[in-house]
Amino acid sequence: MHCSIVCDTIDLMSTKKVTRHQIGEVIYTAEELATRIAQLGASITADYASRVSEESPLVLIGVLKGVIPFFADLMRAIDLPLEIYFLDIARYASATRESVQMELPAKMIGKITSKHILFVEDVINSGLTLNHLMRILYLAEPETLEVCVMFDKQAQRIIDIDLKYIGFSLDDEFVVGYGLDKHELYRNLPYVAVLKR
Ligand code: IMP
Ligand code: MG
Repeated sequence: MHCSIVCDTIDLMSTKKVTRHQIGEVIYTAEELATRIAQLGASITADYASRVSEESPLVLIGVLKGVIPFFADLMRAIDLPLEIYFLDIARYASATRESVQMELPAKMIGKITSKHILFVEDVINSGLTLNHLMRILYLAEPETLEVCVMFDKQAQRIIDIDLKYIGFSLDDEFVVGYGLDKHELYRNLPYVAVLKR
């Protein structure tokens, strides 16, 4: 008796389909994302191989939360000693991230000074967020500071910043998935898709 109830429930769950009315055309599939990240990881590995060691590892810094899937995949595609740190910008920002005011946590400054820093971002749009964060990171006097971004949206760029590693260029349209959200939804999609208006 107990077993049949459990089995029925599982049956029901396995046939239920979630309809995502808001999701439009898929821009990049999970396979395309994985292929590009493997290439980025290989480039980063080659570029830093002679400059980092277990005594002085590469330092990857990301901003929560959008970067999580990209960051997790990228760091496993880099074959070097590295450390990871995250900034929780949402804790400091108010309505718009353009007005964000924040300082680096004191214990993070010591991890950055004289180190090779690779700042990892999900998407760069106006460049205002990145510009602000780069200025804060420079204050901690890293040996080098470069940017690796998964999606580069040039159309609305206000501040131009040198982006050493770029995954893909995006047109001026709002996309979700692979970490990118709309009101906190869709970050878990393994692909990137346009959000219907
Ligand atoms: P920026 O300061 O204008 O460069 O803002 C970049 C930030 O805007 C990203 O870190 C995302 O949080 C957000 N963003 C920009 N474009 C998109 C998008 O197409 N989907 C989801 N979030 C986006
Ligand atoms: Mg972001």
